[in-house]
Amino acid sequence: MTGAFLPLVNREHRVSITQQIFIGMRTAILSGVLEKGSRIFSWKDLSAQLGVSRGTVKRAYDLLQDQGLIVTKGRAGTRVSMTLPAVPLESLPPVRASQGLFYDFEEAPQYFQLGIPAQDQFPAKAWHGAWRRAIAIQSARPQVYPDPQGLLSLRREIAGYLATARGYRCHPNQVFITSGFAGALGIVLGAMGFRGSKAFVEDPGFPRTRHALNQAGVETISAPVDREGVNIPGSEREVRFAVLTPSQQAPLGMALSVARRAKVLDWANAANAWIIEDDYAGELQLTGRAAPALASDDKFGRVLHIGSFSKTLNPGLRLGFLVVPPTLTEVFCTFVSCLAPAGSIVAQQAVQDFMAGGHFYRHLRRMKTLYARRKTLLVESLRRELHPGVRCEFGGALSVRLFFPGTTDDVAIAAEAQRLSLGVLPLSPWYFSHGPAKGLLLGISNVRERSVTTKCELLSRLISAQTHG
Ligand SMILES: Cc1ncc(COP(=O)(O)O)c(C=O)c1O
Repeated sequence: MTGAFLPLVNREHRVSITQQIFIGMRTAILSGVLEKGSRIFSWKDLSAQLGVSRGTVKRAYDLLQDQGLIVTKGRAGTRVSMTLPAVPLESLPPVRASQGLFYDFEEAPQYFQLGIPAQDQFPAKAWHGAWRRAIAIQSARPQVYPDPQGLLSLRREIAGYLATARGYRCHPNQVFITSGFAGALGIVLGAMGFRGSKAFVEDPGFPRTRHALNQAGVETISAPVDREGVNIPGSEREVRFAVLTPSQQAPLGMALSVARRAKVLDWANAANAWIIEDDYAGELQLTGRAAPALASDDKFGRVLHIGSFSKTLNPGLRLGFLVVPPTLTEVFCTFVSCLAPAGSIVAQQAVQDFMAGGHFYRHLRRMKTLYARRKTLLVESLRRELHPGVRCEFGGALSVRLFFPGTTDDVAIAAEAQRLSLGVLPLSPWYFSHGPAKGLLLGISNVRERSVTTKCELLSRLISAQTHG
């Protein structure tokens, strides 16, 4: 008999007393402090013991009962029954965590990690405010299905943002809210019926895009990248689409030249093909004004534009947007309604609030200045520290690229660096048919003045020890 167990309650706490009792008892039961079958205070007795109202304790007991943790048995009193957890994990055959993932997710960010925002300069107060209001609005909303295309007010904000920041005018009904770039690409591949077709991908290019297309049964054809950006090979026939990063080539950073922009649009028009524009960095271009979205020059209605909040706000949001030409809205509406409706309306509402309050625009302006400063800091430090055989390239983009001479093994260096908590990426996996360059990609967003020299020294020692040629 363990009936004397009393959960701790604190009246100063922001959590309700009911919740405190519920959590205290639940923890005691699940951790074995209260054993199965043992008798506990009745709710009336516990309310007297704790000096809180009977209703307060009764509500906590109801919650415990709903979870199958206690039962009330008349004269036999209230006892621990504990049917949670339903299946102890140890009794199941072990299942290894998947190896086929492209992220190191839910780890603390590493120095030089690419593709994440600055961790120290986020406007947390405005962001919390946006979420508080979003929860209030959406929790009072009737429990009905939301628009699968995404919250209209957010789609309006995005259309406004695209017009002002990316020079691209579209109707909110062309906009679909997605689970980031990855989710948008999945929708495009499904809705356009691209399985079994051929597509151009940039070489070098974002490895995840190439893998995604191969997963979806698309044959990928290399389109080489030179100083002007991607060059679509004229010799290939029957290519139905191309996935491109025109504003900031990933990973080399240049914007597609004016002549090449015209060339890819003409190719799409003449070949009856489509261009999927991956605008992953949006307006986060560090020198001068960001190149306008390719979709803004699209007279033929061949460009499907994808933006993401992963770099501008937080990759954990899993939010992005897809804008399709007006002729395709019907097809995409049907597809997303059945297979890929927009996700959490609370997250959508919070982003809408954040944008409508002007915080998003202010944040981006501040980040452009901050990232430019951090990049300069990094480049200066690398120039002091680096092995003379290593070429450092830093134009465009939210990264710095290092190119190694000869046969230096960039994958091995990156793996070693990661063991030392330096989140650099090897460059060679971004190439896939044009003789891979060897090197590293360094993210700039979390470079700090106080640590940059030490980190560059460490990286430089690693590189020098393994650089041949
Ligand atoms: C080239 C490129 N496209 C898109 C993304 C963003 O993908 P998502 O929106 O799925 O996070 C990234 C992020 O690393 C990227 O590097």
